[in-house]
Amino acid sequence: MMQPWIAPSILSADFARLGEEVEAVLAAGADIVHFDVMDNHYVPNLTIGPLVCEALRKHGIKAPIDVHLMVKPVDRIIPDFAKAGATWITFHPEASEHVDRTIGLIRDSGCLPGLVFNPATPLNWLDHLIDKVDMILLMSVNPGFGGQSFIPTTLDKLRKVRERIDASGREIRLEVDGGVKADNIGEIARAGADTFVAGSAVFGAPDYRAMISRMREEIAKAGRG
Ligand code: DX5
Ligand code: ZN
Repeated sequence: MMQPWIAPSILSADFARLGEEVEAVLAAGADIVHFDVMDNHYVPNLTIGPLVCEALRKHGIKAPIDVHLMVKPVDRIIPDFAKAGATWITFHPEASEHVDRTIGLIRDSGCLPGLVFNPATPLNWLDHLIDKVDMILLMSVNPGFGGQSFIPTTLDKLRKVRERIDASGREIRLEVDGGVKADNIGEIARAGADTFVAGSAVFGAPDYRAMISRMREEIAKAGRG
């Protein structure tokens, strides 16, 4: 099991002070920055594009940026995010006409590719792709908004993906996204996740460091720290 990472989602940050907010959560102990891209086409919301990712890099953010593309089509925007400083680029297979080619495009652009599974998306995409990805992201909410409730059936899906990752023998990050809080992160870690997106739980907390530390304690108590 890989070192657990806390990945605050900037969707819940104060966008009027985004650079400072990202600095603050990283200084408070976060490991990577979860960057939610929404196009008001694949999901019913509109957020940010490559220029904001580039602005964070210019601001001096050195931590890995985990770009979650909730967009359709996908391919056109991948090279722009790679140039803008993305580390991982994850996308929804339903949003690409040629999923294997999109994974190759992300890797050829110099980024680490990942597949995102919505609550209703079956895992059989992994039959042909598990050896080509560096991250698998399970949505524990339906994509589009922060502050939703964790969908409990995600736990069993996490266990199934954890088995497949372990059987693959490859170092693949298993990320969970949506409704992750200090009071459920322990059971999520026990189910097999090693990378935890948390938007409203972190940015809604009065003290980022205290919240991130509490999340780490809960993960450690679950025997995954
Ligand atoms: C939802 C986004 C999630 C969301 C998580 O479509 O992909 O990253 O921001 O937010 P919380 O942690 O508030 O549920
Ligand atoms: Zn996300």
